[in-house]
Amino acid sequence: MIIAPSILSADFGKLAESVALVKDAKWLHVDVMDGHFVPNISIGPIVVKGLRPYTTQVLDTHLMISEPGKYIPQFVEAGSDRITFHIETVEDVPGIIKMIRKLGAKVGISIKPATPVSDIAKWIPFIDQVLVMSVEPGFGGQEFMMNSSLKIMEISELRESLNKDLLIVVDGGINNITAKFCKEAGADVLVAGSYIFNSDNPKQKMDSLR
Ligand code: DX5
Ligand code: ZN
Repeated sequence: MIIAPSILSADFGKLAESVALVKDAKWLHVDVMDGHFVPNISIGPIVVKGLRPYTTQVLDTHLMISEPGKYIPQFVEAGSDRITFHIETVEDVPGIIKMIRKLGAKVGISIKPATPVSDIAKWIPFIDQVLVMSVEPGFGGQEFMMNSSLKIMEISELRESLNKDLLIVVDGGINNITAKFCKEAGADVLVAGSYIFNSDNPKQKMDSLR
């Protein structure tokens, strides 16, 4: 299981120190929000650029923004290794996939809780990861939506025939209990923010997820 601590719940006043607490994690999850696609504003490429020299971890960038194509080059240039965009924000899906590939990053597509797996099924052969939102995107600290497990299972079945290398990422409300449901349903990567960072011992929290 890959654990991806979400820096949304880290201390932005001392981001490098916060990230150092979770240096054992292979990935770091970077939530980008625009106040338009989601009702919250977080960070842009300038923070990815600032963070990049402090870690060799995979920077898994989750774009919760309208018109992601406008900003993807800046994020990859700043140091993002993996770019996940929301299917709900894009019309020219193959165009965006091609753009990310050409820039040399890995490609992910995310679906909101109300978006069915069928909306992304045909793109599964062409991408590296699917990110299942298990809360409404926009804020950390929300409760895991149980029907996400069914979506994970559905994607897990599809990858058998469509793309054996696909990673299934789950994001939102992950803790030591919901992590088990995700694992059983077929998830490979768990994104966790508040569970890891709202703690005196982020390392121990990560271990408990593993
Ligand atoms: C929510 C973000 C998540 C968030 C998860 O829109 O995409 O990555 O940080 O936070 P927790 O783990 O607290 O639910
Ligand atoms: Zn996220």
